[in-house]
Amino acid sequence: MIRVALIPGDGVGPEVVREAERVMDACVSAGLADIRTELFPHGADHYLATGETLSDESFARLRDDFDAILLGAVGDSRVPDGRHARDILLGLRFRLDLYINFRPARLRLAELSPLRSADDRPIDFVIFRENTEGLDTGAGRIESAGGPDERAVSEAIATRAGVQRIVRSAFAYASSEGRGRVTLGDKANAVPHVYGLWRRVFTEVAADYPDLDADMQYVDALAMQLVRAPDRFEVIVTSNLLGDILSDLAAELVGGMGLAPSANVNPGRHALYEPVHGSAPDIVGTGAANPMAAILSTALLFRDGGADAAADRVEAAVDAALAAGIRTPDIAGSHTTEQVGAWIADHIGTG
Ligand code: IPM
Ligand code: MG
Repeated sequence: MIRVALIPGDGVGPEVVREAERVMDACVSAGLADIRTELFPHGADHYLATGETLSDESFARLRDDFDAILLGAVGDSRVPDGRHARDILLGLRFRLDLYINFRPARLRLAELSPLRSADDRPIDFVIFRENTEGLDTGAGRIESAGGPDERAVSEAIATRAGVQRIVRSAFAYASSEGRGRVTLGDKANAVPHVYGLWRRVFTEVAADYPDLDADMQYVDALAMQLVRAPDRFEVIVTSNLLGDILSDLAAELVGGMGLAPSANVNPGRHALYEPVHGSAPDIVGTGAANPMAAILSTALLFRDGGADAAADRVEAAVDAALAAGIRTPDIAGSHTTEQVGAWIADHIGTG
C-alpha cells in the first residue's frame, strides 16, 4: 500500500493532477498497484482564504502519514511575492530534506525534439539536481535598502556532506542502472569556493567507481554540449540553481515542459513528485495543459514505491498515446487534457 498525499495547488495543477489520479486509479483497478490517496487544499486559494501557506499540522501529516506527495503546481499572480509557493514547494523540499531532485530527460519520439539531429541520436539522460543547498536557500541580506549604496547578498551554501550525498546518489544510480558516465556541471572557474568543493568531492567519489567515466564540465560549456550532442550525456549531477536551469533546457530537448516529470527524494524517508512545469495561468481552463508530465511523475512514484509493473505500464501507455497522436497542443496535438488522461487510463486497463 502506497499512501499518497495529493496537493493539486494552483493554475493547471488541479487539471493535470486529476488526470494523474485517473491513471493511478486505472493502475489500481488493473491490480498493478495498491494506493490510498488524500487531498490537501494548499495553494493560493487556500492561502488567500485562510492566511495559511502550509500549516505545521499539515506539514506534520505530510511528513508522518504518507509515503509520497504528488504536487501539481504552485504559483498565482494574486500572491505576488510567491510566499505560499515558497513555503509549500521549497518548504517541503527543505523541511523534508529531499536532497535529490531527480529529473529524467528521455526523447520518447524523435519528432518531439526541436533538434534536427534527433532522428539518429537517442536522448536519454537524467539530472541529479542538489535540492537543499546552493543559492536557493534564501540566505543573504540587503544592506542600505533603497539607497545609492544598496547591496544585495545571496549566499551560496555547499557543505561537504551535502555535496557528497548527491554525488554519491548520482554515481550509485549510474552504476545500478548500467549507465557509463557521470558528468558534473559546475562553475569552478568563476565561483571557486563552492564549486571547488564540488570538484574535490566529485573526484573523491569517482575514485570509488573506476568503471564509470567521470567527467567535469563548466556549466556554460555543458549547456552548449547538451544542444550539440545530447546523446553524450547519461547522468548529470549539479547544484540547485544550475540544475534548475539545465533541467528546463533538458526538458525542451525532449518535447518540452509538458513531458518533464520529477522526483524530489530523500531515499527511504520522504518523496515528493511533481511535473517540472509551473501553474501556467495563461492556459487555465482551456484544456490545453499537457497532463503527461504529471502522469509520468506517477510512474516515478510507482517505481520508488516498488510497483514496477504499474510504472512500466504508465510509461508504455504514455508512449502509446504519443505514437497514436493523442496529444495536447504544446506537442502538436488537438486533444484536451482530459482526453489525453482518459485515453492513457483506458490503455492501462487494456494494455
Ligand atoms: C523548479 C521551479 C522551482 C525551483 C521554483 C518554482 C521555485 O523552477 O522546480 O524547477 O526553482 O526549483
Ligand atoms: Mg525550474
